Amino acid sequence: MSLFIVFEGGDGSGKTVQSKALSERLKKTGKYQVLHTQEPGDTLFGQLLRRVLRHPDLGQPVLKENFPQLMMLEPSLADHALPDVILQTSAPRAELLFFVLARAQIIDEVIQPHLSKNTGAIVICDRYIYSTVAYQGYGRDMDVELINQANKIATRGIQPDLVVLLDIEPEEGLKRKRADSHKDHFDDKEVSFHKRIRKGYLAQADQDPGRWLVVDATKSKKEIEQIIWDRVSGLLPKTD
Ligand code: TYD
Repeated sequence: MSLFIVFEGGDGSGKTVQSKALSERLKKTGKYQVLHTQEPGDTLFGQLLRRVLRHPDLGQPVLKENFPQLMMLEPSLADHALPDVILQTSAPRAELLFFVLARAQIIDEVIQPHLSKNTGAIVICDRYIYSTVAYQGYGRDMDVELINQANKIATRGIQPDLVVLLDIEPEEGLKRKRADSHKDHFDDKEVSFHKRIRKGYLAQADQDPGRWLVVDATKSKKEIEQIIWDRVSGLLPKTD
């Protein structure tokens, strides 16, 4: 038996810290094969997308440093900044499809192979299908039904056993994130965009309460860790 846990939340909610803390705690037990992964990420295309999102102004240097072979194979890329190639598109549909593409790959290359390993396999994934519903659906105002279908194509219907939502008011989350000094693709969006994302998360949690654990992300790091641990302990796969 395996276990699949997803962490979700708006920018600055602390989900990355918490998903890593849970991974470490599970690894320490010595009983499970724990894999921590993130979306987008952990496939070649996923890494590329992640870097573009994280460094929207950097453009070409990112491509040159990280994908020199790609530059050699396709020299015309040198004429464009990386965001032009990937995300500075006027079509939110293209943005949606990039995330879905990255998801189809991470499912086949990383998540599914790990989950189908022997007893005690655990995957912890920082963001999943729910991010697309929240950001592209609610944030960018795209059709949620269509997004659900695209997500089904990408995941072949694989759903997590638990979704941990670190819920925070966008004003508070963005304040934390700015203190972190890293600015990404969605950072310049107005607060109302981030408010819609939060609404999108809470709506999804409401529709499937048995699968979701909604945690107040303003609690202390230790308190949050414990709330999550209490829930996860009841779901752990038997290893003997
Ligand atoms: P990143 O800074 O890499 O991650 P995080 O905020 O999780 O630390 O940025 C990923 C960004 O991509 C984040 O702002 C959310 C966004 N995103 C979507 O818009 N749709 C998606 O389907 C996914 C997976 C992420």
